Amino acid sequence: MSLLITNIGCLVNVANPKQAIQGNELSILPTIEDAFVLIEHGRIACVGNMYELELLVPQFPNQVVDAQMAYVLPAWCDSHTHIVFAGSREGEFVDKLKGLSYADIAAKGGGILNSAHRLAKTPEEELFHAAMIRINEVAKLGTGAIEIKSGYGLSFEAELKILRVITRIKNESPLIVKRTFLGAHAYPLAFKDNHAGYLHLLINEMMPAIASEKLADYVDVFCEKGFFSVEEMEQVCNAAAKFGLRPKLHINQLNSIGGLQSAINLAALSVDHLETMTHQDIRDLAGSSVIGTLLPTAAYFLRMAFQPAREMIDAGCKIAVASDFNPGSSPSGNMNTVVSMSCIQMKMLPEEAINAATIQGAFAMEADQEAGSIAVGKRANLIMMKPLPSLAYIPYSFGTNLIDKVLLNGNFI
Ligand code: NIG
Ligand code: FE
Repeated sequence: MSLLITNIGCLVNVANPKQAIQGNELSILPTIEDAFVLIEHGRIACVGNMYELELLVPQFPNQVVDAQMAYVLPAWCDSHTHIVFAGSREGEFVDKLKGLSYADIAAKGGGILNSAHRLAKTPEEELFHAAMIRINEVAKLGTGAIEIKSGYGLSFEAELKILRVITRIKNESPLIVKRTFLGAHAYPLAFKDNHAGYLHLLINEMMPAIASEKLADYVDVFCEKGFFSVEEMEQVCNAAAKFGLRPKLHINQLNSIGGLQSAINLAALSVDHLETMTHQDIRDLAGSSVIGTLLPTAAYFLRMAFQPAREMIDAGCKIAVASDFNPGSSPSGNMNTVVSMSCIQMKMLPEEAINAATIQGAFAMEADQEAGSIAVGKRANLIMMKPLPSLAYIPYSFGTNLIDKVLLNGNFI
C-alpha cells in the first residue's frame, strides 16, 4: 500500500499550478535535489529533501526503493492521440517517399478513409487488444495519461465501436484516459457530395447515442481545406455543447482558414497541430485562454515546417506538446521523442519541453488534478530515469531509451 523512494538525485516538476502556464514562464521547472517521495494508496503522500526525511516520515513503510540518485519525473501526459486504429499504413508511407502528397493520398481514398475501411472490418475485441499492445508500449515509454480520439469509424456503428474500445481502455488500463469523439475527421465516400447528410447523421444520430452511453468527454473536428470548413466545425461544436462535450480541435495543420479564431469563440480547451500559423493567429491565441498543442512528430513525419513554438511562447501562448500517435501522420507515441524534437526542431528549452509534455498536457485534457506534476494528492505516475548527467541530457540524447522504471498509481509496470 505504501512505498518510499529515497535518494532521488533530482525530483522534477514539483509544482501544483492552478492553470496552464503561459508564455516564458514555461521555462520555470521546479525541482528538489536529493529528494524522497512517499506514496500511499497509489498517490503522492509526501515529498521533500532527504535531510527532512526522518522528520516528515517518522515510520518507514515496508517497501523502500533507493533511487541511487536517479532523476524522477512525472509521467508524460499525451493530450492528443488516435491510438485506436486497425492495421497500419506503411504502403502509403512508401507512396509518399515516391512523391505523392498527404492530400493526394487522401483524395484517392487513402489516408483516414483507408483506416476507416479497415476499422469497419475489425471486430471490437481485436481492436481492443491491438490498441492495448500500443497502450502498454507507450506506458513503458513513460506515458501515464492519454487522450484518445475516435474518428476512424465515420459511421454510426463504427464510431460507437471505437468509442467503446476507448472506454474499455479507460476502464481496464492503469493510465488516465480522456475520450474524444472525432466523427468529423473526414467525410466518408458515400457523403463526399452530401456534407449536410453526414453532419445530420453525426449530430442527430451519433451524438445522442454517444451521450446516452457516456462514451466521450470531448468533441474534435479536423478543420481543414478538403475536410471540414470553419462553418461545419461550428455546427458540430455547437451541437456537441448541448451534450456537454467541449471542443479540442485539429486546427491549422495544412492551412490557416480561420479555424483558430472560431475555436477561441467556441471556448475550445485546446487547438492542436498549428503547423501553419500566421502572426495574427499567434497573437489571437496568445490573447485567449486556449492551449495550443504542438505535434512535432506529425510535422516531422509529413516533412512539414515545424510549429513556431519559440514565437508562440514569446508571444505569451499556453503551449503543450503531444504525440498525435496515428497510422497516417505520426506512427509513434513516444513522448521522449516528442520532447527531444520539441527542443531540436522547435528550439524549446529542455525545461519548457518537459513542462509542455507533463503539466501542460495534463491541462490540455483536464487531468491536472490527477497528473502532470509531482504534488501531494496526485496519482503516483512517475518515471525513474537511468543515471543522467543533467536534465538537458533527456532531450539531447534523442533516440536512446533513458527510462529505467515507470510507476503508475504507485505500482511499477
Ligand atoms: O492528426 N490531421 C488529421 N488527423 C490525423 C491524421 C490522421 C490520419 O492520417 O490517419 C492527424 O495528423
Ligand atoms: Fe491528430
